[in-house]
Amino acid sequence: MQTTAATAGSPGPAATALTSRQRFLNACACWPVDHPPVWLMRQAGRALPEYRALRQKHSFLDLAQTPELAAEVTLQPVRRFGFDAAILFSDILVTAEGLGQKFRFDETNGIQMDFALRSTADVARLDVKALPERLHYVPRALRLVRAALGKQTALIGFAGSPWTLATFMAEGGSRDHYPHALSLFRKDRKTYFELAEKLTAAIIAHLQLQIEAGVDAIQIFDSHGGLLAPLEFQEASGRWIKEIISSLRTSTLRSRATAEDGPHSALPIIVFSLGTHGNWDDLLATGANVLGIDWRFPLADARRLLPCDIGLQGNLAPALLGDATPEAVAAETARLLEVMRGRNGYIFNLGHGVPPEARLENIAALVEVVKNFK
Ligand code: CP3
Repeated sequence: MQTTAATAGSPGPAATALTSRQRFLNACACWPVDHPPVWLMRQAGRALPEYRALRQKHSFLDLAQTPELAAEVTLQPVRRFGFDAAILFSDILVTAEGLGQKFRFDETNGIQMDFALRSTADVARLDVKALPERLHYVPRALRLVRAALGKQTALIGFAGSPWTLATFMAEGGSRDHYPHALSLFRKDRKTYFELAEKLTAAIIAHLQLQIEAGVDAIQIFDSHGGLLAPLEFQEASGRWIKEIISSLRTSTLRSRATAEDGPHSALPIIVFSLGTHGNWDDLLATGANVLGIDWRFPLADARRLLPCDIGLQGNLAPALLGDATPEAVAAETARLLEVMRGRNGYIFNLGHGVPPEARLENIAALVEVVKNFK
């Protein structure tokens, strides 16, 4: 990437010539941009008619595990809405599959895993070494997406946090409640730590595959962080995320030292932890470059509380995309942009994923307001 005048100093005319990828990477690094970049968590998926058409013919896992299909689904929302970043069409539970705990998805039961992981013996069954081979389709899909996007649009790789994966794995799928991981953590700390250590190693390996395949940034989803009491968060979730980030930093600094990206060669890492508003210090301590702010926390408070060298991403309430009119979505988008006016390092996003009932005209209204923000 060329470093433009805008990346070195204040936004001038050069800033208007930013590509989507530069805009996104500048925002991750808290450098000036022409307007904030925009992408949406779960932007690929059921809200899009072109996704639903493919799902008529293929199961969710077929889409995720066939590189050509995963690449196509990844690109669909970028083509339709012109997002500044693409996120690989995959799932956080792919890491569990890489460890040997398979899963399936269906409309009525959600995620179902082959077994529920409850004991030391279950943890011993997980095999980190086999992961790169089992997940061979992930880098293949990413290379296809990268080839289609070129250097125009940013490409985000992702994984779940160890804690969030543990909640699904201990329950054996998606459920209304996740008591088993909580009780493992509270009553059998030794086994929980064995599991968290294995998950940490697996997530690092899974993210390494994605980094080698050319992603521009990584997001770690800690969607179940908020199930923990604030005093439990660091031991159950935060410290493992921190370990993942420091390991990736050490290895990517080595492998990307010769990248043509100059200052952007330090891979930005976004941590999205849902419902952990009592844990800002723990979240900062993970070493994340950008923190995702969920929709239940006022963005103005996040701006006030968090240091200005940390990027912020979020946080329009996802339900508005289904419930509200395009005018109301546009007004709320404009309000959030005003809250962040003048702060470098802002990435526009929702405060959680796009719901299946999101209306296309609402997503379009959101994107248009961000792109025209001056
Ligand atoms: O567009 C994108 O963001 C990329 C694709 C993506 C999916 N899942 C596809 C998916 C990403 C980034 C995820 C992450 C993910 N998966 C998270 C973290 C984000 C969050 O929402 O908190 C979590 C917790 C999961 C686990 C998961 N996957 C559940 C609980 C479910 C079933 C419930 C549901 O949302 O339907 C899934 C299935 C899933 N993952 C679908 C999609 C598009 C639905 C499959 C379909 O109906 O076709």
